[in-house]
Amino acid sequence: MTKNKNKEFESLVSDIINNEYFLETKKDLHHGTSKYEHSMRVAKLSYKLARIFKADIKDTTRAGLLHDFFLGTRKEKPENSYLRHPVTAMNNAKKYFNVNDIEAEAIKTHMFHQVLLKKLFPFINRKEKVSVKEFKPKSKEGWIICASDLLVSIMECERFQFTYVANVALLLVFNILMFKN
Ligand SMILES: [Fe+2]
Ligand SMILES: [Fe+2]
Repeated sequence: MTKNKNKEFESLVSDIINNEYFLETKKDLHHGTSKYEHSMRVAKLSYKLARIFKADIKDTTRAGLLHDFFLGTRKEKPENSYLRHPVTAMNNAKKYFNVNDIEAEAIKTHMFHQVLLKKLFPFINRKEKVSVKEFKPKSKEGWIICASDLLVSIMECERFQFTYVANVALLLVFNILMFKN
């Protein structure tokens, strides 16, 4: 990123990255890196994509940074689970950073690629119940967070690359079908 873009990015997230509770995410492991590092990567990619696709830059960047804002591992508590953690992250983002509706919704729907996958293969995370309608991104900002998280995760988790490539393909097909008219 250029110096000016870096400055803009930092001004958009400075209150979050200096927040004591958010800094706790540095202690949590996520895809073999810290949750803080993962969230920063997603926020930076979301910031770039928001500029390209003319989405709201502030909402997209902040939602990207807060999309996994929960403490502990996914297995520690039921609310941190694979498909429920977006709701926990959204509630934390509302509590600590007073996020607006677009940011909150984008955080809540960031695992949509996995929701689709679960609908196609119900044996994945059998105990979890999710609704496609509820967890489908409702805005351009939401679609960007979902795609950024997926792309960053692919880069971070080499061992899951095949699964993630399959997920990207699914997401693309779904997008094409949705917006073809
Ligand atoms: Fe997540
Ligand atoms: Fe994530």
